[in-house]
Amino acid sequence: MASAERGQTKYQINLRRYLRESGVDRDLTRIICEIANASKYIINAIRTGDLGVAGTSNLYGEQQLELDVLSDRIIQKRLMYSGVIAKMASEEVDEVVEVTVRNNGRYSIAFDPLDGSSLVDVNLAVGTIVSIYEGDNLLRPGRNQVAALYVLYGPRTTMVVSTGKGVHEFAMNQLMEFDMVQENIQLEGPAKIYAPGGLRSKYTPGTLKFVRSLEANGTKLRYSGGFVPDINQVLIKGGGIFMYPHLTDNPHGKLRLLYELNPMAFLVEQAGGTASNGKQRILDMTPESLDQCAPVFIGTKESVAFAERCLLEEEGT
Ligand code: AHG
Ligand code: MN
Ligand code: MN
Repeated sequence: MASAERGQTKYQINLRRYLRESGVDRDLTRIICEIANASKYIINAIRTGDLGVAGTSNLYGEQQLELDVLSDRIIQKRLMYSGVIAKMASEEVDEVVEVTVRNNGRYSIAFDPLDGSSLVDVNLAVGTIVSIYEGDNLLRPGRNQVAALYVLYGPRTTMVVSTGKGVHEFAMNQLMEFDMVQENIQLEGPAKIYAPGGLRSKYTPGTLKFVRSLEANGTKLRYSGGFVPDINQVLIKGGGIFMYPHLTDNPHGKLRLLYELNPMAFLVEQAGGTASNGKQRILDMTPESLDQCAPVFIGTKESVAFAERCLLEEEGT
């Protein structure tokens, strides 16, 4: 297969061609390409949309939609008519949407249409996160995912995707198509950066011990408050750890298993890393509800294993 080193592409390989050459089936290719298409409209909405000025309306005099709701509509509309989706679950919608238009879809997806949407106001990076399953059951452990991806809307728009054959980065070009910029991203220890979510004053002793030891070892703090750019930094820098731990007043943390953790855990595992809720592999958790949250320690294997050991000691005390 054509390879592309970051910044030194031997020859361009675009997303569709990569998917075809790596043997991904037509329907799954369609889903990934529909998300790529949706991202053109989402990035346009982020760049030019309503900045929260009271009473603003669009060209047609309608009240502007919030960016996360708009992103959800953009993605749902494209997938609804794709003919390849059975069910969709979105962080913006309370119930699973069953696709009845051309209803013979083989795949189902769970997605966060615009993670970190409150960061748009302060002009920080945000992203779309997508998890793809075969069949119509979305309440299955994340290890059953057939593909996962995120689109990061930063100074550049990039897509990081895995169909179970490694994890690869694509960047949107001037024609708004995605070209490969990095093949087979690998996390190779030790962690050089850490991104700690949640209030430190609410950390439990095990998490505090873990964080202090990272700091003592010179691991650099890199936290933007956006899950997608924070995970992207860990992946592209080739090592690091992101955490949003259980807190003294919230044992389940903040991030959602279906929409945020499972797809990121799939990508990070495909890059040779791992993701844990502190006790158990994220991808082995059986979701009980669509909006279930879990604590997370995700990134370089050695660091996640060390976090688990710190938490085990905490239990023993
Ligand atoms: P969302 O915008 O979909 O509600 O999620 C935001 C998430 C995630 O992007 C980030 O990791 C986390 O919230 C940050 O939370 P804190 O502000 O509590 O650190
Ligand atoms: Mn989110
Ligand atoms: Mn969201």
